[in-house]
Amino acid sequence: MSAMPLAPAETLEAYGASAAGCTRCRLAQGRTQVVFGAGNPRADLMFVGEAPGFHEDKQGVPFVGQAGKLLDGLLAGVQLRREDVYIANVLKCRPPGNRDPQPDEIEACEPHLFRQIELIEPKVIATLGNFATKLLSGRPLGITRVHGQEQELTIAGRSLLLYPIYHPAAALYTPAMLKVLESDFARLPGLLGATLDPAPLEAMPEPQPAVTAPAEQLGLF
Ligand code: URA
Repeated sequence: MSAMPLAPAETLEAYGASAAGCTRCRLAQGRTQVVFGAGNPRADLMFVGEAPGFHEDKQGVPFVGQAGKLLDGLLAGVQLRREDVYIANVLKCRPPGNRDPQPDEIEACEPHLFRQIELIEPKVIATLGNFATKLLSGRPLGITRVHGQEQELTIAGRSLLLYPIYHPAAALYTPAMLKVLESDFARLPGLLGATLDPAPLEAMPEPQPAVTAPAEQLGLF
């Protein structure tokens, strides 16, 4: 592993440009390109998957293959589009033959994900599958145990909700999983609503004038 220093880029775009030449791990050798992430750089909701596959590696965009089509459908089911959220992966480069990420690759790539989180400042991070869930929760509990259970965490210096969900690819292998995914996705709007900042004071309704009629006339007693 070569320890390329992390660029102190101030914007997500600048940081992504600097990460495009990353050689922090062996995956740099076999990739077509770094798949940094895509979507709204100011999104309240961020998804973190596992690693780019064949199509993602070719196109440079996360979740554009079959699992991506499922993700699009699940997003549409809760009235969200890709442009509303930010989508990234634990690994930014495709592992050969789509094998599992190795611990040293996760460790080498982790600073990229944490910097993305710092720059995007999401309120909710939905982790898709085991690798993202274990990395960001810092706990070894698998997705079957923890899916659909939000937890408040401090990540990259920010307090946010971590919300583990099955990886959409699970529904490609086990179609019954689609129902579980749909019901976990259905909670996303509520979780986002629960974390939104309170309305600014200007937007609050004007205070109502004090009641002037005697209380008896108003039927209060
Ligand atoms: N699976 C992932 O975890 N990420 C992708 O980008 C595509 C498939």
